[in-house]
Amino acid sequence: MPRRVVRSERTADGGSQPDDLDLHQIAVIVEEGDAHGNLIALLQRTQSELGYVPEPAVDEIARLTGVPASRIYGIITFYAQFSTVPSGRHKIFVCHGTACHVAGATRITEAFEQELDVPDGKSTPDMEFSLDSVACMGACSQAPVMRIDAETYGNLSADHTRKVIRELVKELGLEAQYPGVSGAGSPRGGGDA
Ligand code: FES
Repeated sequence: MPRRVVRSERTADGGSQPDDLDLHQIAVIVEEGDAHGNLIALLQRTQSELGYVPEPAVDEIARLTGVPASRIYGIITFYAQFSTVPSGRHKIFVCHGTACHVAGATRITEAFEQELDVPDGKSTPDMEFSLDSVACMGACSQAPVMRIDAETYGNLSADHTRKVIRELVKELGLEAQYPGVSGAGSPRGGGDA
């Protein structure tokens, strides 16, 4: 019989509310994975299936694998791809390391904030997108850099970023939720300044 515990669920403001987390789901993930060999892969699958890695999931992974919870939290904290709080289905990371900052990372973040109406560090009310600033992504020669889910973009300008946003919204079929984005028939903005 699967054990159920309280977890936090996505809410419109990115906060949390009680809900049930089926720990059997975690057991399956651990069983099908190579817990000791690839803890990161376990966490990636948990993040992918739940949308984040809640505290009860960390405890269960620790219990099933014998890996201390402190070590698991260490990995979650180190890698920007993991979150212990609910985040958007599509995760946007804008690099704000030194090279990207100098190359205009702030304008990239502002493009997302304006187009998707989402503050940095938050998720959109419909939980489709989350926006976060992160440290160096290791691609400084292509600064400024961002990643949307598994795709990395480099040598960005604000206009290029807005174009990517429009294409993404269209590709996801979210024009109705984001009429301001999809309604733009031509590239916005008069430059990156
Ligand atoms: S500072 Fe952005 S990739 Fe290194």
